[in-house]
Amino acid sequence: METIAENIYDFPVYYDLVFGADWAAEFHFLTDCFEKHVSGRTRRLFEPACGTGRLLYRFAKEGYALGGIDLNSKAIEYCNDRLAKHGYKGEIWVGDMCDFTVAKPYDASFNTINSFRHLLTEKQAVEHLQCMANAIRPGGIYALGLHLTPTEGPPTDTESWNARRGNLSVNTHMWPLSRDLKMRIERFGMRYDVYSPTSQMRIEGELVLRSYTAKQFDQLLKKVPQWSIDGIYDFRYDINEPIEIDATVEDVVFILKRQK
Ligand SMILES: C[S@@+](CC[C@H](N)C(=O)[O-])C[C@H]1O[C@@H](n2cnc3c(N)ncnc32)[C@H](O)[C@@H]1O
Repeated sequence: METIAENIYDFPVYYDLVFGADWAAEFHFLTDCFEKHVSGRTRRLFEPACGTGRLLYRFAKEGYALGGIDLNSKAIEYCNDRLAKHGYKGEIWVGDMCDFTVAKPYDASFNTINSFRHLLTEKQAVEHLQCMANAIRPGGIYALGLHLTPTEGPPTDTESWNARRGNLSVNTHMWPLSRDLKMRIERFGMRYDVYSPTSQMRIEGELVLRSYTAKQFDQLLKKVPQWSIDGIYDFRYDINEPIEIDATVEDVVFILKRQK
């Protein structure tokens, strides 16, 4: 099979085929979070690192006003094209989630699958939370989902996903390359195996993510007092099952509430 080494986010069609199928649990959970955790009504939503907009598109269908940014211009083009194709609009642009401003604050925001961990330094993480505090009105929320590093028990290492649409099928696999918990840097290999009736291709790239123990996340949050934790859930995405963090917890969705 032909193998090409690329940035895996440069293939929005394949990304969205694999991860776009997985929207319903997050969508319903986030809708429940708006109801439970936002003070006042939720009409305007913002997603930093929105990628292809797999979730923004679903919220557009429900009539929310949308904003989003992503560093990857191909993902943003895909996102905007899909919204336009279905007659929706959003303020969605290429931008860095550590350095942006919005014209009018939003009611709620979300960032659910580890995108935040792409920010590799404490400075970037603080800048991101500060930008988000300026982008969300008081009483609004930021639902931030990430894998924490457990301090007891082994972390989950490999993940695989498969998806098919018509004649196109994509198998995705992610595996650890190195983990430096002192420097808080984890490297993962990630590949798409893409099959169509006429061709097969492997796209292989590397993801570099910053690691967080629960304590490290807590220390970060203290640096941006505009945010406080209003609820903690996990990737079961069940609003009726808030969790408590212990040494073994990995998948976490923090509901951060914008303070006055
Ligand atoms: C795992 S994807 C998630 C995309 C989308 N949020 C979703 O749920 O499908 C991570 C995204 O983070 C984006 N990203 C990484 N660093 C970024 C940064 N500094 N600012 C904005 N986007 C960034 C990547 O381009 C990629 O689209």
